[in-house]
Amino acid sequence: MKVDGTPYRTIWLSPDGTTVQAIDQTLLPHRFVVRDFRTMEDAEVAIRTMIVRGAPLIGATAAYGMALAMATDPSDAMLARAYTVLMESRPTAVNLRWALDDLRALLAPLPAAKRREAAYRRAAEICDEDAEICRRIGENGLGLIRKLKPRDKSGRINALTHCNAGWLATVDWGTALAPIYQAHDAGIPIHVWVDETRPRNQGASLTAWELGKHGVPHTVIADNAGGHLMQHDQVDFVITGTDRTTRGGDVCNKIGTYLKALAAHDNGVPFYVGLPYPTIDWTILDGVRDIPIEERSARELSHMTGRLVKDGLETGELATVQILPEGSAGANPAFDVTPARLVTALITERGVCAASEAGLLSLYPEQQTRAA
Ligand code: MRU
Repeated sequence: MKVDGTPYRTIWLSPDGTTVQAIDQTLLPHRFVVRDFRTMEDAEVAIRTMIVRGAPLIGATAAYGMALAMATDPSDAMLARAYTVLMESRPTAVNLRWALDDLRALLAPLPAAKRREAAYRRAAEICDEDAEICRRIGENGLGLIRKLKPRDKSGRINALTHCNAGWLATVDWGTALAPIYQAHDAGIPIHVWVDETRPRNQGASLTAWELGKHGVPHTVIADNAGGHLMQHDQVDFVITGTDRTTRGGDVCNKIGTYLKALAAHDNGVPFYVGLPYPTIDWTILDGVRDIPIEERSARELSHMTGRLVKDGLETGELATVQILPEGSAGANPAFDVTPARLVTALITERGVCAASEAGLLSLYPEQQTRAA
């Protein structure tokens, strides 16, 4: 996608052939800064501190993290250490495990001298594949949007999304936002309600920023506003991404997604989820029971960062403020699970299916042997 006319991906290999570069998402929408990752540890810190985030981008960064490890030391010991260190960087997005398993299976049988080149080649392939998969999710989701009739009199289609599942969360295009970009580019009048997505505000900071850069009309809303808008015919469909989807169609995504799905169900609003195949965890059926939910620091609740306004004037400086009283405890589960029964359909690179084991297997029949 483009940033002020220049095409960007979220992650790429620098011309020196070793350093990996990525957009620093902790500074958006206030600063556009590109970070260099020179070591596997740089990639691990970037995932853990959310310089990069979003399930597919976490997977792509982990793949490049393995390549950086092999550039430093292509030994078996380093391969094992990089796998373990990167795997522990964030627990919920299964794309991380998928990418690390893929790289380890490729690299382990190779002689050490061949590992560096093979790892960089595969990491680049994973990035290219992710961009193409997301483009196809966009095409498949566009088919669903074309069938919708606006509920209000504006004549525009109103989408509602939670967190950021746009191009910033992937290598390019996004999952949930790919159909929205394609609808907008096809001339369909579409407007997006953007949940702010506390505590880290990925909606307000990232989704609003990238929709704005692409010229898609959007309005940021408080996380609790969606149900009210649905009751008043202001939402034609909800669309989110996912960090892990079970083979039964349960969808784990940013905390608060489940409440939007409940409100959508109560109001007869379709609830769609866009996902690439590496986000499906075929080893799990029951998401509520079996998906590990990342618990993040309470500091994400107690403190907020933004542009400093002094005496009514923008200063251009960034400032962090505390919003909780001294001594109040905070709890910060970062994801929740929406049961399959609340999901109208899953949108994948292979097509649209029911959120169920039968639905997923109709698109991925080669996984039949792994299903129960
Ligand atoms: O904690 P984050 O910002 O990594 O969470 C991201 C999300 O929940 C996204 O919606 C998800 O990764 C879907 S990916 C396109």
